[in-house]
Amino acid sequence: MALWCCPLYRRFLRAPCGCYTFLVIVTVVWALLSMIFGFNNSLKDADFIGLTACPACLGTSWCHQFLSGQLKLNFWWRLRLLNFLNHKQVFFGHFRDDRKGWVSVVFKRLASADEILVLDQRLCHEAGLPGHCNVSHAVRFFEKVIQLNTEVASGWSDVLRCPSRLLLQQLAKRHGEDSGVSGLAHFTYTLRLNPEPVILQAFPKSEGWPFPQYLGACGRFIAVVNAGPGLWSFVGAPWYRRAALARDLLNLAEKLTWSDLHFSLYMLDVTFDNFAVDPVDGHPVLVDAENVLVVDREHVREAKPEGWNEWYESDSYNENDVPCEACLTYSYTSLCNHLYHDHNFYAICHNLLGAGARWRGWQGGLLQGAPPYITADGRLITLLQQCEQPTNRFKAPLNVKPKIGRSWLENEGVPAA
Ligand SMILES: *[C@@H]1O[C@H](CO)[C@@H](O)[C@H](O)[C@H]1NC(C)=O
Repeated sequence: MALWCCPLYRRFLRAPCGCYTFLVIVTVVWALLSMIFGFNNSLKDADFIGLTACPACLGTSWCHQFLSGQLKLNFWWRLRLLNFLNHKQVFFGHFRDDRKGWVSVVFKRLASADEILVLDQRLCHEAGLPGHCNVSHAVRFFEKVIQLNTEVASGWSDVLRCPSRLLLQQLAKRHGEDSGVSGLAHFTYTLRLNPEPVILQAFPKSEGWPFPQYLGACGRFIAVVNAGPGLWSFVGAPWYRRAALARDLLNLAEKLTWSDLHFSLYMLDVTFDNFAVDPVDGHPVLVDAENVLVVDREHVREAKPEGWNEWYESDSYNENDVPCEACLTYSYTSLCNHLYHDHNFYAICHNLLGAGARWRGWQGGLLQGAPPYITADGRLITLLQQCEQPTNRFKAPLNVKPKIGRSWLENEGVPAA
């Protein structure tokens, strides 16, 4: 077989293999390259973004931006061949804003492929259709459930763990993905898959909440503004920078607990990976809002469960027994039944600030290695211990804050090491 490439091969490549081996190698490389570059993830692809599953989807408010090509994935996230590595299904990209120029965007499917499939099958089942039904047909059957029953909704996700009619109404009212009759379906589907978009819209960044800015949804993707580098990348920063972050994290805990007139928000999953640091103002942001529990304080005042108006201190039994990363002790009942609960402060001190904080095999906490003039009187360490392992000292975290706040101010003139 006189192939055009064989003379070429003989002339330029004198590798110890024959012409046909060379051809096989070329074919394999070509196939790999075409797989990598030929089948790209594209935000314009209705199948890839899950638009065909609507109304069993997260919404349609940003479909124009998705389908018109204004939103783009960054290089590595376009390679479909690599999707199997992306278990959490989070993609990075950008879009061009007329006022701000290029904005870095995170696209999220909010669950793993398996979790999405399991929910689809459950929705089909609940609608009385076969397990592998077209889920876009299944969702209409139970759209009304949520209007009738807060108890049912409370089992779906942490946001509604403490059932309250006002909370459900408020979340639905703020949910911007409700074009036409499909709105309730989007709301229901989102609550059941992952309530993060519901939280981001009910407690928006524009009103000072420490969450990423929600942009919109199309099919089974949401788009949020990239909130900045992860908190984990700051564990090696100079002490005064970490002290400022620690103070801001306690401010964040305070904000979630008390700043809203009606609702208290409690973080149930506090890890270094779940926070980012805003590159503009340097403040921490909770980027994973799946496990946020919301308490309607008015509901507590009316229902008056036992001990409702006593200040509640978190327990941290299990302490010193089994070392575990980012674990927290809490109970839904104690969170739901109290007006004043120290959970957020405890969670921040226990999992991020204190000496017992552990993450990815590392132990130490954000406030380790304080300069001697701070640690000299031992007060910071005592306060941190009290905050980490609360024992009837609700005020400890609030005392830690001025302490690290002061040292931050003293150091403000010091350049980063
Ligand atoms: C499901 O049904 C919708 C509407 O009837 C349709 O547009 C979509 O293509 C179907 N999806 C599949 C996977 O068959």
